[in-house]
Amino acid sequence: MILSIESSCDDSAISITEIATNKLVFHKKISQELEHSVYGGVVPELAARLHAEALPKILQQCEPYFQDLKAVAVTSSPGLAVTLIEGVTLAKAVSVALDIPLISVNHLIGHIYSLFIEKETTFPLTVLLVSGGHTQVMEVQSLTDIKTIAKSMDDSFGESFDKVAKMMGLGYPGGPAIQELAKEGDRKRYDFTVPLLRTPKLAFSYSGLKNAVRLAVEKSQEKDYKDIAASFEHIATKHLVHKLKKYFQTHPPKNFAIVGGASANLYLRKQIEELLAPYNAKLLLSDLQYCSDNAAMIGRVAVDMYKQGMFSSLEALDITPKSI
Ligand code: KG4
Ligand code: ZN
Repeated sequence: MILSIESSCDDSAISITEIATNKLVFHKKISQELEHSVYGGVVPELAARLHAEALPKILQQCEPYFQDLKAVAVTSSPGLAVTLIEGVTLAKAVSVALDIPLISVNHLIGHIYSLFIEKETTFPLTVLLVSGGHTQVMEVQSLTDIKTIAKSMDDSFGESFDKVAKMMGLGYPGGPAIQELAKEGDRKRYDFTVPLLRTPKLAFSYSGLKNAVRLAVEKSQEKDYKDIAASFEHIATKHLVHKLKKYFQTHPPKNFAIVGGASANLYLRKQIEELLAPYNAKLLLSDLQYCSDNAAMIGRVAVDMYKQGMFSSLEALDITPKSI
């Protein structure tokens, strides 16, 4: 079995995965959403302190499995430096105490592998990753062959939901709150501009849309918020669909997946389903419980890395907060 630790942002999570079967033997996550909600976003120092409290508590519950552990895996990149270090330090301590090797896992590959928890992998795969930190399209041939096709030049898809929610006083995370509010709203009432419409560039941008929404919020009353939320969700999604459509002209999809915290968005799922229909492409989605950050997805990557002998030494394993 492999014990895996995730602390890249505001979720403290540990899982145990059986190497031979991919079975998830143990999985626990303590989310800090409530603590950060009052600030309208994640406060890194607070997040680090909460990880330092939560991770050892979850680890204690894993004690019955200690004798069966063959490796310890941890998210080392990308994420917040002060929170990544909490997980990495704990993983190193477990590695020394139990004399087992370390596996250093990339969080974005973790999101891709959230599709394969307790399952075999399906490759090749075109992936749209939409989370709080990232918006990108990737071509995935295998664990070690991942090519980024397009990414955001500024804010991410999920982050724009968080910021719009904050403008409306809806707390953090904003995605679920905006989705809920948008359900009752008129998607056509606010004519926001689709970002990067006039450039052929395969890239994303959400800061302009966010600012347009800010102006609309400032000029309106609370009764208009549902229409602003609906129009924003519509245009934010249309931007993704528009760029994907462009990419599909030269690279028609076969297996297509949406992963990351914001892949839980139902409007996005529906629009992508419609986009894929003419291609007869298969749409892969993670279980809703594994869309947001968790350690089960890190454990699933770790199983494949273990099988390929991809270990890290105590000295070499370090955090890399930025995506590379
Ligand atoms: O993957 P994740 O848990 O953390 C990162 O790696 O960033 O993603 C969290 C992000 C937040 O920005 C949150 O607002 C967004 O996912 N999110 C959503 C929805 N549920 C979560 N965004 C839009 N619609 C949702 N239903
Ligand atoms: Zn994530």
